[in-house]
Amino acid sequence: MRGMMVLLALAGLAGCDQAERKPSTIEAKLVAITYDGAITKDPAALVAHGERMAAMLGCTGCHGKNLQGQNVTDGDPNFGDMNASNVTLALASYDDPALDKLIRHGVPKDGREFWFMAAESHQFVGDQDYAALVAYLRTVKPAGKPMPPIRNGPGFERDVAAGLFGNTIEMVRRFKASQPTDLGPTHALGRYIAMTSCTECHNSALQGYPDFTPDLDIAGSYSAAELTTLLTTGEGKVKKDLGLMTQTAKHRFAKLTPNERAAVVVYLKARVDRPQ
Ligand code: HEC
Ligand code: HEC
Repeated sequence: MRGMMVLLALAGLAGCDQAERKPSTIEAKLVAITYDGAITKDPAALVAHGERMAAMLGCTGCHGKNLQGQNVTDGDPNFGDMNASNVTLALASYDDPALDKLIRHGVPKDGREFWFMAAESHQFVGDQDYAALVAYLRTVKPAGKPMPPIRNGPGFERDVAAGLFGNTIEMVRRFKASQPTDLGPTHALGRYIAMTSCTECHNSALQGYPDFTPDLDIAGSYSAAELTTLLTTGEGKVKKDLGLMTQTAKHRFAKLTPNERAAVVVYLKARVDRPQ
């Protein structure tokens, strides 16, 4: 599979004599799963991959195409104002370790309780894809105005009380403890893409959220070709316009490579038959 690469160099095995090589298991552990194009020595290609990751991971979906921030819940004042920050301004005060803590652990540098950002899904982003994302973010120039702090409305408080979601630290913990079924190495890329790109809305093990998203078992009612169409154009099988799903597919999943899209389609179809 193209998405799987054995990192011999990292293992220090690259220059080793065949005869000295200890058997197999070492390499098996070092298989790095990445989106296509993460492993490159060309700095421009790395930045381009990082820009695609910013779309794939929803950074631009929530923070706006130019990353200058927006109120993600503008259409639902009862929920509150989930003001996704102006990333271009915030970045200057984040060094690389602090940025990693924010993005993959859900902990901002001022230590405040942090909400709504999809750190629960981003925690699964591998080091290569993450390095590309940061390489891209570091090219973005500061622009625009700061966003006001988030405001929690009654709908927000109700969902939190119902246990539907929590702050980013709680969500990271929750998603770590309950992950999409592991169907082995042949499905590793598909599962990785689902964990980093679908769990944000379809929940930790792809079981869906009540009144929001279906369990991705619904993939069983789609043919592989129909699922491929959904993840390319956003067009559903029965209901053509699936609202947020259609928008997300157009802005994000249209950017999957054919190899990545096939991997996630095959994984979701196989997951339907997992042992319960
Ligand atoms: C689901 C929406 C969502 C997604 C996806 C998302 N963010 Fe955020 N982000 C937010 C919100 C909301 C805040 C403000 C949260 C708060 O103040 O509690 C925020 C805050 C931030 C901040 C400012 C931190 C600070 O100290 O104020 C940065 C930087 C940031 N996000 C970067 C990113 C990057 C990079 C990605 C993609 C990997 C990303 N975000 C994905 C919603 C999102
Ligand atoms: C930003 C949120 C969001 C993300 C991310 C997301 N989805 Fe969805 N998805 C939705 C919503 C909302 C629905 C329900 C749409 C409806 O029924 O109107 C949905 C529905 C679906 C459906 C059912 C379509 C139907 O015919 O009822 C499938 C299949 C699906 N999503 C697959 C995926 C896959 C695969 C991924 C990751 C590659 C993904 N989604 C990521 C929000 C999202």
